[in-house]
Amino acid sequence: TTVYLNGDFIPAEQAKISPMDRGFLFGDGIYEVIPSYSGRFVGFAPHIDRMHSGLGQLSIDPQLSHEKWQHIAEQLVADNKAELGDNLGVYFQVSRGTDTKRGHAFPTNVAPTVFGFVFAIPPEPVADKAKATIYNVVTGQDLRWQRCNIKSTSLLGNVLHYQQGAEQGAQEILLFDKQGNLTEGAAVNVFVIKDGVIATPPLSTKLLPGITRQILLAILAKHSDIEVQERDISEAEVLAADEIWITSSSKEIAPVLTVNNNPVGDGQVGDVWLAAQQLFSSHKF
Ligand code: PDD
Repeated sequence: TTVYLNGDFIPAEQAKISPMDRGFLFGDGIYEVIPSYSGRFVGFAPHIDRMHSGLGQLSIDPQLSHEKWQHIAEQLVADNKAELGDNLGVYFQVSRGTDTKRGHAFPTNVAPTVFGFVFAIPPEPVADKAKATIYNVVTGQDLRWQRCNIKSTSLLGNVLHYQQGAEQGAQEILLFDKQGNLTEGAAVNVFVIKDGVIATPPLSTKLLPGITRQILLAILAKHSDIEVQERDISEAEVLAADEIWITSSSKEIAPVLTVNNNPVGDGQVGDVWLAAQQLFSSHKF
């Protein structure tokens, strides 16, 4: 496996980062995951925009342009596709860099650590009810911090919530804030469908602005007449939904068939999902 580290493409075994790196000591960094199918990226520009936005909020500047990021991604795919195949997630991480003093304040004159690698992801999801990867989820109170719009490498809150679901036999967990409104899942955004209307929580500091979410909303607005609402969604609405979907870069739009072991709607993959995944598959590149 070839990885990118601070300007060089090198074998993974040779990639070394100091244990004094603030990414390791503080989780002081931003990451991004971009899907690539046979060398075609989904949402490359919005993914880089989101990463730059997160880095800006942390005052970290790796001084890399969209073109440079694209070059790194393309090189990583080219160098690894023989070993890892055509379906790849490009992972980028930028931390504040290495500083031996371990002060909480931002150190000055420290170069950010820029890391990239690719890993195999499942094949492109297809708009076919029989072939959809289906999910069983549970619900829980969102116990993460109040800046979930930042794609921070400090993923402990998400990891613990994901594990909380896994220990109940679920493959995701739908989270609700103190007011009882849906935020997102441990690693996905959430859509709820009732009587043919699609709803998803509005962007706020309580959830990650998912790129799959963003692309899906744009495609639905441009290519369909289906009504879409960005609004608060209560737990009661989630439990009474006809369909629930979870979205992320590697899953695209995935149907949820049970919540807390109860069927969603009729317990089958839904017609609105089929229409949405069809549109997404046709227009995502
Ligand atoms: N997960 N919400 C959270 C908390 C996420 O971690 C992710 C992505 C999403 C969906 O965002 P996008 O559509 O941009 O992938 C929502 C990444 C891929 C992860 O597994 O770390």
